[in-house]
Amino acid sequence: MITILNLSRREQGINDTVCDLLRAGLAEKQLATQYIKLRELTIGYCNNCRSCMKAPGKELGRCPLNDDMDSLVTALLQSKAIILSAPINCYDLPSILRVVIERMAVFCHWPDDSYSPKVRELEKKINGILITTSALPGVMVPIVTSARKTFRLFAKPIGIKRIDYFHMGFKGRKSDMALNEKDQRMVRKIIGQLAASGAGAL
Ligand SMILES: Cc1cc2nc3c(=O)[nH]c(=O)nc-3n(C[C@H](O)[C@H](O)[C@H](O)COP(=O)(O)O)c2cc1C
Repeated sequence: MITILNLSRREQGINDTVCDLLRAGLAEKQLATQYIKLRELTIGYCNNCRSCMKAPGKELGRCPLNDDMDSLVTALLQSKAIILSAPINCYDLPSILRVVIERMAVFCHWPDDSYSPKVRELEKKINGILITTSALPGVMVPIVTSARKTFRLFAKPIGIKRIDYFHMGFKGRKSDMALNEKDQRMVRKIIGQLAASGAGAL
Protein backbone atom coordinates (compact mmCIF):
# COMPACT_ATOMS: atom_id res chain seq x y z
CA MET A 1 0.00 0.00 0.00
CA ILE A 2 1.25 3.49 -0.89
CA THR A 3 -0.03 6.35 1.26
CA ILE A 4 -0.20 9.88 -0.08
CA LEU A 5 -0.41 12.41 2.73
CA ASN A 6 -1.31 15.93 1.63
CA LEU A 7 -0.38 18.61 4.17
CA SER A 8 -1.69 21.67 2.35
CA ARG A 9 -4.74 23.41 3.76
CA ARG A 10 -5.53 25.00 0.40
CA GLU A 11 -8.28 23.46 -1.72
CA GLN A 12 -7.09 23.04 -5.31
CA GLY A 13 -3.68 24.46 -4.52
CA ILE A 14 -0.44 23.17 -5.99
CA ASN A 15 -0.19 20.26 -3.53
CA ASP A 16 -3.68 19.09 -4.48
CA THR A 17 -2.53 19.12 -8.12
CA VAL A 18 0.64 17.16 -7.26
CA CYS A 19 -1.33 14.57 -5.29
CA ASP A 20 -3.99 14.20 -8.01
CA LEU A 21 -1.26 13.60 -10.61
CA LEU A 22 0.42 11.05 -8.35
CA ARG A 23 -2.84 9.23 -7.75
CA ALA A 24 -3.65 9.09 -11.46
CA GLY A 25 -0.14 7.83 -12.33
CA LEU A 26 -0.10 5.21 -9.57
CA ALA A 27 -3.58 4.01 -10.55
CA GLU A 28 -2.39 3.66 -14.15
CA LYS A 29 0.39 1.37 -12.88
CA GLN A 30 -2.26 -0.52 -10.88
CA LEU A 31 -0.58 0.27 -7.57
CA ALA A 32 -2.72 0.26 -4.41
CA THR A 33 -2.87 3.74 -2.86
CA GLN A 34 -4.72 5.55 -0.12
CA TYR A 35 -5.01 9.33 -0.17
CA ILE A 36 -5.24 11.34 3.05
CA LYS A 37 -5.76 15.09 3.17
CA LEU A 38 -4.67 16.00 6.67
CA ARG A 39 -6.95 19.06 6.59
CA GLU A 40 -9.95 16.71 6.56
CA LEU A 41 -8.94 14.97 9.83
CA THR A 42 -9.48 16.16 13.37
CA ILE A 43 -6.25 15.86 15.31
CA GLY A 44 -6.03 17.57 18.70
CA TYR A 45 -2.97 18.89 20.49
CA CYS A 46 -1.01 16.57 22.77
CA ASN A 47 -1.80 17.33 26.44
CA ASN A 48 1.68 16.26 27.62
CA CYS A 49 0.05 13.80 30.03
CA ARG A 50 2.62 11.10 29.07
CA SER A 51 0.16 8.27 29.77
CA CYS A 52 0.77 6.83 26.26
CA MET A 53 4.49 6.50 27.03
CA LYS A 54 4.23 4.71 30.40
CA ALA A 55 4.18 1.08 29.29
CA PRO A 56 7.36 -0.50 27.89
CA GLY A 57 7.42 -2.81 24.90
CA LYS A 58 6.66 -2.75 21.21
CA GLU A 59 2.93 -2.16 21.50
CA LEU A 60 1.93 1.45 20.80
CA GLY A 61 0.71 3.46 23.77
CA ARG A 62 -2.92 4.53 24.17
CA CYS A 63 -3.78 8.22 23.94
CA PRO A 64 -6.77 9.43 25.99
CA LEU A 65 -7.76 11.87 23.23
CA ASN A 66 -10.50 10.54 20.99
CA ASP A 67 -10.02 11.85 17.46
CA ASP A 68 -8.66 10.80 14.05
CA MET A 69 -5.07 10.17 15.19
CA ASP A 70 -5.58 6.42 15.70
CA SER A 71 -6.91 5.93 12.18
CA LEU A 72 -4.04 8.02 10.78
CA VAL A 73 -1.49 5.84 12.61
CA THR A 74 -3.21 2.66 11.36
CA ALA A 75 -3.13 3.98 7.79
CA LEU A 76 0.55 4.91 8.05
CA LEU A 77 1.60 1.58 9.51
CA GLN A 78 -0.04 -0.42 6.74
CA SER A 79 2.04 1.45 4.14
CA LYS A 80 5.08 0.19 2.29
CA ALA A 81 5.71 3.75 1.09
CA ILE A 82 4.53 7.12 2.38
CA ILE A 83 4.57 10.20 0.18
CA LEU A 84 4.17 13.44 2.07
CA SER A 85 3.34 16.44 -0.11
CA ALA A 86 3.56 19.81 1.63
CA PRO A 87 3.98 23.53 1.15
CA ILE A 88 6.93 25.20 2.87
CA ASN A 89 5.41 27.60 5.39
CA CYS A 90 7.61 29.89 7.49
CA TYR A 91 10.78 27.95 6.54
CA ASP A 92 9.40 24.57 7.67
CA LEU A 93 6.73 21.97 6.94
CA PRO A 94 3.22 23.15 7.97
CA SER A 95 2.47 23.31 11.70
CA ILE A 96 -0.18 20.55 11.52
CA LEU A 97 2.71 18.10 11.08
CA ARG A 98 4.19 19.22 14.42
CA VAL A 99 0.80 18.49 16.02
CA VAL A 100 0.93 14.98 14.49
CA ILE A 101 4.55 14.43 15.56
CA GLU A 102 3.74 15.33 19.19
CA ARG A 103 0.81 12.91 19.11
CA MET A 104 3.26 10.26 17.88
CA ALA A 105 4.45 10.04 21.48
CA VAL A 106 2.50 6.74 21.43
CA PHE A 107 5.49 5.36 19.49
CA CYS A 108 7.77 6.06 22.49
CA HIS A 109 8.42 4.71 25.94
CA TRP A 110 9.47 7.23 28.61
CA PRO A 111 10.16 5.67 32.04
CA ASP A 112 9.64 7.98 35.05
CA ASP A 113 13.35 7.92 35.91
CA SER A 114 14.62 8.61 32.40
CA TYR A 115 15.63 11.99 30.98
CA SER A 116 14.30 11.26 27.50
CA PRO A 117 11.96 8.88 25.67
CA LYS A 118 13.05 5.92 23.53
CA VAL A 119 11.32 5.05 20.27
CA ARG A 120 9.69 1.60 20.40
CA GLU A 121 11.27 -0.89 17.98
CA LEU A 122 8.52 -1.63 15.47
CA GLU A 123 10.66 -3.50 12.91
CA LYS A 124 8.96 -1.75 10.01
CA LYS A 125 10.63 -0.91 6.73
CA ILE A 126 8.77 1.85 4.96
CA ASN A 127 10.06 4.07 2.17
CA GLY A 128 9.49 7.79 2.62
CA ILE A 129 9.17 10.45 -0.04
CA LEU A 130 9.02 14.14 0.84
CA ILE A 131 7.70 16.54 -1.79
CA THR A 132 7.77 20.23 -0.97
CA THR A 133 6.44 23.22 -2.86
CA SER A 134 7.86 26.63 -2.07
CA ALA A 135 8.35 30.17 -3.26
CA LEU A 136 12.06 29.57 -2.68
CA PRO A 137 14.00 27.79 -5.41
CA GLY A 138 13.88 24.05 -4.69
CA VAL A 139 17.67 23.80 -4.22
CA MET A 140 17.44 26.26 -1.31
CA VAL A 141 14.94 24.19 0.67
CA PRO A 142 17.49 21.78 2.24
CA ILE A 143 19.76 24.71 3.07
CA VAL A 144 17.48 27.40 4.55
CA THR A 145 14.45 25.47 5.83
CA SER A 146 13.93 22.80 8.51
CA ALA A 147 11.74 20.70 6.20
CA ARG A 148 14.01 17.64 5.96
CA LYS A 149 14.75 17.65 9.69
CA THR A 150 11.04 17.85 10.56
CA PHE A 151 10.26 15.07 8.09
CA ARG A 152 12.92 12.84 9.70
CA LEU A 153 11.28 13.42 13.12
CA PHE A 154 8.01 12.14 11.66
CA ALA A 155 9.72 9.31 9.76
CA LYS A 156 11.79 7.65 12.47
CA PRO A 157 9.06 6.32 14.81
CA ILE A 158 6.99 4.89 11.94
CA GLY A 159 9.97 2.97 10.62
CA ILE A 160 10.76 4.97 7.49
CA LYS A 161 14.31 3.92 6.67
CA ARG A 162 14.94 5.35 3.21
CA ILE A 163 13.91 8.89 2.26
CA ASP A 164 13.86 10.54 -1.17
CA TYR A 165 13.41 14.30 -1.42
CA PHE A 166 11.76 16.30 -4.20
CA HIS A 167 11.63 20.09 -3.89
CA MET A 168 9.47 22.06 -6.34
CA GLY A 169 10.50 25.69 -6.17
CA PHE A 170 9.31 29.01 -7.60
CA LYS A 171 5.72 28.51 -6.43
CA GLY A 172 5.27 32.00 -5.02
CA ARG A 173 3.12 33.90 -7.49
CA LYS A 174 -0.43 33.19 -8.59
CA SER A 175 0.87 32.52 -12.09
CA ASP A 176 3.27 29.84 -10.71
CA MET A 177 0.47 27.66 -9.32
CA ALA A 178 0.67 25.02 -12.01
CA LEU A 179 3.17 22.23 -12.50
CA ASN A 180 5.83 23.05 -15.07
CA GLU A 181 7.62 20.42 -17.17
CA LYS A 182 10.35 19.93 -14.52
CA ASP A 183 7.75 19.38 -11.76
CA GLN A 184 5.88 16.89 -13.93
CA ARG A 185 9.14 15.02 -14.56
CA MET A 186 9.61 14.78 -10.77
CA VAL A 187 6.12 13.29 -10.37
CA ARG A 188 6.77 10.78 -13.19
CA LYS A 189 10.08 9.84 -11.54
CA ILE A 190 8.35 9.18 -8.21
CA ILE A 191 5.72 7.00 -9.91
CA GLY A 192 8.41 5.06 -11.77
CA GLN A 193 10.42 4.59 -8.59
CA LEU A 194 7.39 3.29 -6.68
CA ALA A 195 6.37 0.97 -9.50
CA ALA A 196 9.87 -0.52 -9.56
CA SER A 197 9.94 -0.92 -5.76
CA GLY A 198 6.76 -3.04 -5.64
CA ALA A 199 5.46 -0.89 -2.75
CA GLY A 200 1.92 -0.76 -4.08
CA ALA A 201 1.62 -4.27 -5.49
CA LEU A 202 -2.00 -5.46 -5.27
C1 LIG B 1 1.72 31.60 5.62
C2 LIG B 1 2.65 31.23 4.49
C3 LIG B 1 3.99 31.07 4.74
C4 LIG B 1 4.86 30.74 3.72
N1 LIG B 1 6.19 30.61 3.99
C5 LIG B 1 7.04 30.29 2.97
C6 LIG B 1 8.43 30.14 3.23
O1 LIG B 1 8.91 30.28 4.34
N2 LIG B 1 9.24 29.85 2.19
C7 LIG B 1 8.75 29.67 0.92
O2 LIG B 1 9.54 29.38 0.02
N3 LIG B 1 7.44 29.79 0.64
C8 LIG B 1 6.57 30.09 1.63
N4 LIG B 1 5.23 30.21 1.37
C9 LIG B 1 4.72 29.92 0.01
C10 LIG B 1 4.10 28.52 -0.05
O3 LIG B 1 5.11 27.55 0.14
C11 LIG B 1 3.41 28.29 -1.38
O4 LIG B 1 2.37 29.22 -1.47
C12 LIG B 1 2.86 26.86 -1.38
O5 LIG B 1 3.92 26.01 -1.75
C13 LIG B 1 1.70 26.66 -2.28
O6 LIG B 1 1.16 25.35 -1.98
P1 LIG B 1 -0.44 25.16 -1.91
O7 LIG B 1 -0.99 25.76 -3.14
O8 LIG B 1 -0.65 23.69 -1.86
O9 LIG B 1 -0.89 25.84 -0.67
C14 LIG B 1 4.35 30.55 2.39
C15 LIG B 1 2.97 30.69 2.15
C16 LIG B 1 2.13 31.03 3.19
C17 LIG B 1 0.66 31.18 2.89
